[in-house]
Amino acid sequence: MTFTIAIDGPAAAGKGTLSRRIAQTYGYHHLDTGLTYRATAKALLDAGLPLDDEAVAEGMALKVDLSGLDRSVLSAHAIGEAASKIAVMPAVRRALVEAQRAFAEREPGTVIDGRDIGTVVCPDAPVKLYVTAAPEVRARRRYDEILASGKEADFDTIFADVKLRDERDMGRADSPLKPAADAHLLDTSEMSIEAAFEAASVIIDAALKKD
Ligand code: C5P
Repeated sequence: MTFTIAIDGPAAAGKGTLSRRIAQTYGYHHLDTGLTYRATAKALLDAGLPLDDEAVAEGMALKVDLSGLDRSVLSAHAIGEAASKIAVMPAVRRALVEAQRAFAEREPGTVIDGRDIGTVVCPDAPVKLYVTAAPEVRARRRYDEILASGKEADFDTIFADVKLRDERDMGRADSPLKPAADAHLLDTSEMSIEAAFEAASVIIDAALKKD
């Protein structure tokens, strides 16, 4: 039996860092499902194909190779924008969710993060975390990250983008972003990544004891 930790939350809430940290500590495989939507979007952009043709996007989603997801290539802003557009398409979601569920079978355990993991992809996961933070805080983190990498950024543009992405992710009809009924909420607005990890560990260790 494998053990699944489902982590959901809005963009820039800290779930990526937290997920990697948990996977490393517990020796589990990690899948950032946002990268599967991003890889599909990038393949469409690279091929010069439209982002509003569901059948074409589904074809690309079916070809995504989960072992070849490169965060450094896929993190570009334009790819994130395109990803959130194709993520509203049920056929794209069906194709990617199937691949994500297959990943969740891996032994000895997996940490899977995204928007719909606890609600749709792995509804039976023994641990579900919903990691969030106030939109201003998330925008500020993204802004600081970009400055730290030596690039220029405009806070107001980033803030507007965070809110737009939230609207799109929470407002879509298929698999909107929301906490599963049995998810533990972790608000990281005033919490360091270390404190968030400590809080998550307590929840995970309790679930592992029951397992
Ligand atoms: O998390 P990340 O910003 O990489 O995700 C890119 C986009 O992919 C999100 O804005 C969201 O629209 C979509 N996504 C999704 N379901 C997931 C993961 C990501 O719809 N499980």
